[in-house]
Amino acid sequence: MLRILGIKGITYDGFRIACELLVRAGADAIEVSGPFATLKLEDAYYFLDYTAKIAEEIKASVILAGGNKEFDTINQILNDSHIAYFSMARPFIAEPNLVSRWADGDRSKQKCIRCTRCTQNMGRCLLNTNVL
Ligand SMILES: Cc1cc2nc3c(=O)[nH]c(=O)nc-3n(C[C@H](O)[C@H](O)[C@H](O)COP(=O)(O)O)c2cc1C
Ligand code: SF4
Repeated sequence: MLRILGIKGITYDGFRIACELLVRAGADAIEVSGPFATLKLEDAYYFLDYTAKIAEEIKASVILAGGNKEFDTINQILNDSHIAYFSMARPFIAEPNLVSRWADGDRSKQKCIRCTRCTQNMGRCLLNTNVL
């Protein structure tokens, strides 16, 4: 995994050039991410615009990360864009069996409220440890 860090961030053109170099070097997939902890709790699909755009422009699978939360919305993005995969961190911390549940037909909303307190709780969900 390679991370591109910058104190003031990176322009879209710089990001695209970096992705093209990674693909040329043999990367199978690119996951687009950023400083999720500074975003508002109610926000979701934080990086959709850039991720959908880069997915149209490079020859590698592109993964959408950050605030993926509803089955129907994820499915719609899958159908309407070139994004190939979706990653989830906090939804799995709150509900490790989430994908099995969705696969079994219960497509209701996942439990995570994106409070980000698991980052200060050794990766454990506060919903599941009775601390909230
Ligand atoms: C407990 C926890 C630890 C994390 N640790 C890292 C980390 O070490 N490095 C990193 O780049 N992102 C880290 N993340 C960010 C996740 O990889 C992911 O990008 C972020 O949680 C947004 O996805 P989500 O909305 O599905 O949670 C962490 C997230 C959580 C909740
Ligand atoms: S502590 Fe908050 S952000 Fe972390 S998994 Fe639980 S509900 Fe989600």
